Amino acid sequence: MKLKQKIVAAMAVVVLCLSGIASAVELKLYCNPIEEPYLRECLKDWEAQTGHSVTFMAATDSSTDTLALYQQQLAAGAHEIDVYQVDSIWPGMLANHLLDLLPYSADREKLHLPSVIDSNTVKGRLVSMPLFVDAGMMLYRKDLLEKYDVPVPVTWGELRDAARTVMDREREAGNPKMWGLVFQGRAYEGLTCCALEWIDSYGGGLIDADGKIIINSEQATAALAEAASWVGTITPEGVLNYAEEEARGVFQSGDSVFMRNWPYAWALGQEDNSPIKGKIGIMPVPKGSVDGKTSGCLGSWGLAVNKYSKNHEAAADLVFYLTGPVGQKKFCLMTSHIPSVISLFEDEEMKNANPVVILDLFMNTIPRPAGITGTKYNRVSNEFYNAVHAILSKGGEPAAELQKLENTLRRVSWGGWN
Ligand code: GLC
Repeated sequence: MKLKQKIVAAMAVVVLCLSGIASAVELKLYCNPIEEPYLRECLKDWEAQTGHSVTFMAATDSSTDTLALYQQQLAAGAHEIDVYQVDSIWPGMLANHLLDLLPYSADREKLHLPSVIDSNTVKGRLVSMPLFVDAGMMLYRKDLLEKYDVPVPVTWGELRDAARTVMDREREAGNPKMWGLVFQGRAYEGLTCCALEWIDSYGGGLIDADGKIIINSEQATAALAEAASWVGTITPEGVLNYAEEEARGVFQSGDSVFMRNWPYAWALGQEDNSPIKGKIGIMPVPKGSVDGKTSGCLGSWGLAVNKYSKNHEAAADLVFYLTGPVGQKKFCLMTSHIPSVISLFEDEEMKNANPVVILDLFMNTIPRPAGITGTKYNRVSNEFYNAVHAILSKGGEPAAELQKLENTLRRVSWGGWN
């Protein structure tokens, strides 16, 4: 190559590099602290391929507190955050502040379970893409049930008895810190999920698919009376302040026989530094009675782009990468979350690595009434978990609290739900 040609070629390389740098974007992503290291790992390839980089900001580990944080930022039209990790119950409440992802999707939403895409769609706008699906489930100490020859329970009554037997025997054997059952009992969204499971498993409900308030029922009264009876007997009183991570802390330290939680707790309990590695069994949420049904609450988290962000294109690209077959598979393999990409349910690697997928939890889930109550969902859930919290802390009788709750929800529903 002649000197002149060499100079032209070198200049072309410099121009290419500079244009690459000029279009490289630094994105900011808000996510749940527990998921941050896995998201970081999953995005490495995307960062290398695109030249973009991502700064992670940790939200809180309570869905209720994180919603308040996001609402504050979005109401002020803040543009600093590009991507938000969002709970499945928020699209109705946040839709006006989130970018419609359909123009960026190139049909990629069709790879996911249609029902999950529906719950991320508000008035025809795809406001977030599912990162994973969640389903309430039970984890238990397989080794201890075997040790005391106690069968895996099917109903809440059987679970109460199994928890009591194993807890008492373990305490007698010199383990005074042992409890029977932990769950999410703090007054926040997690308690809404637990209480819906109890009530649904007894055949009751909160608000039905037509928007009718059905909470004041014998079934709900019975379910909540049963749950209140656990506190201080098989469940520590501290449960009234437990979110997911506090419950997991007790269970993973080896101090509870059963735990109600979400699939992520399985992968963490199986890590090398976990005292209960290899000792965990998983099962569906129990039934109210033998002919009742198992009722895992439907959860899930997605990724949404802030409408006020200055980086729509790059942010949407990140979202579709992470929620796509490659990103989601990697993420779900590491975290034992349930995928929403349909092909991953048949993926051998996923099935072998993730027993939660095999348990088919997703098939029997109950949704929260977020779609039907729209912008009023937060108020509904708030009233519900406060009433349940009062019952669990023995500050209220189930029947009287449910009557009060029904009256309050009627007032909240005035003028329609949406
Ligand atoms: C889980 C669920 C989410 C739910 C939250 C409650 O993160 O995925 O949908 O709102 O728990 O604590």
